[in-house]
Amino acid sequence: MLRQGLRRKPALGGWPQGIRLFEILIMTETMKTIIEKIDINADFASHPAVLKAAEVLRSGELVAFPTETVYGLGGNALLADSARRIYAAKGRPSDNPLIVHVAELAQVSEFAELNERAVRVLERFAPGPITVVLPKKPCIPKEVTGGLETVAVRIPSHPVAQAMLKAAAIPVAAPSANISGKPSPTDGAHVAHDLNGRIAMIIDCGASGVGLESTVLDLTVEPAVILRPGAVTLEDLQEILPDVVLGGTKTLSGAEAPKAPGMKYRHYAPSGKVEIYDEAELIAAYQAAADPEIVILGSSSVLEACQPKYGFELAFDACDVVTAANRLFAGLRYCDEIGAKRIMAQSFAAEGLGVAYMNRLNKAAVE
Ligand code: TXA
Ligand code: MG
Repeated sequence: MLRQGLRRKPALGGWPQGIRLFEILIMTETMKTIIEKIDINADFASHPAVLKAAEVLRSGELVAFPTETVYGLGGNALLADSARRIYAAKGRPSDNPLIVHVAELAQVSEFAELNERAVRVLERFAPGPITVVLPKKPCIPKEVTGGLETVAVRIPSHPVAQAMLKAAAIPVAAPSANISGKPSPTDGAHVAHDLNGRIAMIIDCGASGVGLESTVLDLTVEPAVILRPGAVTLEDLQEILPDVVLGGTKTLSGAEAPKAPGMKYRHYAPSGKVEIYDEAELIAAYQAAADPEIVILGSSSVLEACQPKYGFELAFDACDVVTAANRLFAGLRYCDEIGAKRIMAQSFAAEGLGVAYMNRLNKAAVE
C-alpha cells in the first residue's frame, strides 16, 4: 500500500517545502527494509539485530528504533547525507531540526557546548525523556540542525536504544519515525506502516513507555524555556531550575526557522476533524449529535456511557492521564485506519503530564 502511495506522486498534494529534487528521487525509490523483532527480555548488548543496526547507522543508512518516548528514525549525526536521507524518508521539511542521541553524558561534549545548567539537568533526568538545546560544535553538520547554530541533545533510557547507541559509538540524529505530520509511532507496527520500503532497517520492540515525545528544554537562553512539554514536567524542572518557563506553542508561518518544536508545522493530525471535550461534555455532545459515524477517543467510562460504534479506549477514567498519554497517538492512528471524518477526543487536566497530553491533542485539532 505504501509503495503504491509513493508512485502516486500527485495524490500527495505537492512536496513539502525544503525537499530538493535529489531527495524526491530518494523518496520515490523503494528499498527492502529489514524488520527485526526483539523480545524485551533479550540480552540487548550482544543481540545480532542491535549489532547490525549499529553497523547500518555507521554506514550512513537509516534505522528506526524504540525509545522510552516514541520510536526514532536514526541516522549518523556526523554525516550531512544521513540527515538528508532522514528528511527524505519522512517527507519532512529540512529546516525542522533533528535531535541528536547518545548513550551517555560523557559523549555530549564531543558535539555540543555543555554548560553547568545542562550538566545539572542531564545528571538529574537523563537517561530519560528530556532533550536539551545547546550551542553546537562544528562536527555536527548544519543539515542536522536545520541551519541553526544550536543542537538538541537526548540520552534515551530504553535499553535497546542504549545498546544500539553504545555499539554504534556515534551520535545518532533521530526525529520521530513517522511520516511528517502524522502522529509519532508508539509501536513497531506504526513505524512499519509509515516507513517500510523507505529505510534500511526497523527494530520492533513493541509498545513505547511514555507514548509522547521528550520534553525539549532550551538552555541557550536565560531563563531556560520548555519548547515542548513532555514527561519531565515543568514542576520536575523547577526543582533544579526555579525560573524555568513554559514556552508558547503558537504556529509560525513563512521562512522563519522554528525556535520551538512544532511551532511551524502541523503535527499529530489524523485526516478527520478532531473536537475536544471533557468527560461530561463528550458524553453530552455525542448523544446530541446522534451520528454513529463519529469516533470517540475517550476513557472507559465515556465509552460505557456512549456505547459508540467506533471507540478507542484511551484510559480508565479522567484521572488516568498516564495511560491516555501512552495511547493517544495509537488512538489518532486508529482514526485514520477506519477513515474517521469526525472525532470526539477527551481532554485531561492540563497539569503534570496532562500539559504534554493537551499540547499534542490541541495540535491534532488544529485545522
Ligand atoms: O522523544 C523524542 O524526542 C523523540 C525520540 C525519537 O527521541 N524524537 C522526536 O524528534 O520527537 P522530532 O524530530 O520529532 O522532534 C524534535 C523537535 C522538533 O520539533 C524540533 O523543532 C526540535 O525538537 N528541535 C530540534 N533541534 C532543535 C534546536 N536546535 N532548537 C530548537 N528546537 C529544536
Ligand atoms: Mg516528530
